[in-house]
Amino acid sequence: MAKIIDGKKIRDYNLEIMKNEVSALKEKGVDTCLAVIIVGDDPASRVYVNNKKAACEKIGIISREYALPAETTTGQLLELISQLNADSSVNGILCQMPVPKQIDSQLVLDSILPEKDVDCFHPVNVGKLSIGSGVFMPCTPMGIMKMLEYEGVDVAGKHCVIIGRSNIVGKPMAMLMLAANATVTVCHSKTKDLAAITKQADILIAAVGKPKFVTADMVGDGAVVIDVGMDRDENGKLCGDVDYGDVEPKASYITPVPGGVGPMTITMLMRNTIAAAKEQNNIEK
Ligand code: GUN
Repeated sequence: MAKIIDGKKIRDYNLEIMKNEVSALKEKGVDTCLAVIIVGDDPASRVYVNNKKAACEKIGIISREYALPAETTTGQLLELISQLNADSSVNGILCQMPVPKQIDSQLVLDSILPEKDVDCFHPVNVGKLSIGSGVFMPCTPMGIMKMLEYEGVDVAGKHCVIIGRSNIVGKPMAMLMLAANATVTVCHSKTKDLAAITKQADILIAAVGKPKFVTADMVGDGAVVIDVGMDRDENGKLCGDVDYGDVEPKASYITPVPGGVGPMTITMLMRNTIAAAKEQNNIEK
């Protein structure tokens, strides 16, 4: 039987610490502020943005929402970002993805000042991450590292297999695992004999975006299984990339969906926003 890693409990533990950090900043005259941009009316994006604002409120970070209509142009969005870049009362800026298709999303991500890029999506911050010198950490991968740390799972020397090579999860996850001295394999849709590789994992991270993709025959006995998926099953019910019922008996630790990795992503966004406020005000970490 696997130990279930409770993302909500670990989120609450971390947010409590951050609440004190935000108060300490306030005492030094710094109001921590996050600007959140949402373009259009994608329902999932709306839920994510509301959750991000709620997390800010919980720990005393000021959140400013900028909701733009679906027909917004790249130029209009860049103009808003330029204003927020120049606004010294704004410490962090995030533009909820995906944006409507007429907008050049890479241009948008590139236009957010690296110093305010709390998503850690800007090429400068991605580069810094790869050489281990960044202030910001990629939110979902860092959330996973925090979960493993909380549970006392030592990753040094372990074989970490990641399924998925996205810019948001797979690639930055590999960087953080390497920095923590894991041996890393990144698999993807073109990988041959996937199950033979995933079975070797001490730590298996599924970030594929396919419901219940990882089954028991792909998992070695006692593996730590981390599920980044947010999918819908055949009945429209929320599920992950891991077939939880099938895999759980084989795993030593497993994250549920919902209530696993999801809450940690937003928690790390808060971490990055506080880090931005400290950096911009020359306050020691
Ligand atoms: N869309 C899905 N995940 C994310 C995220 O972490 N940040 C932003 N900005 N958009 C997203």
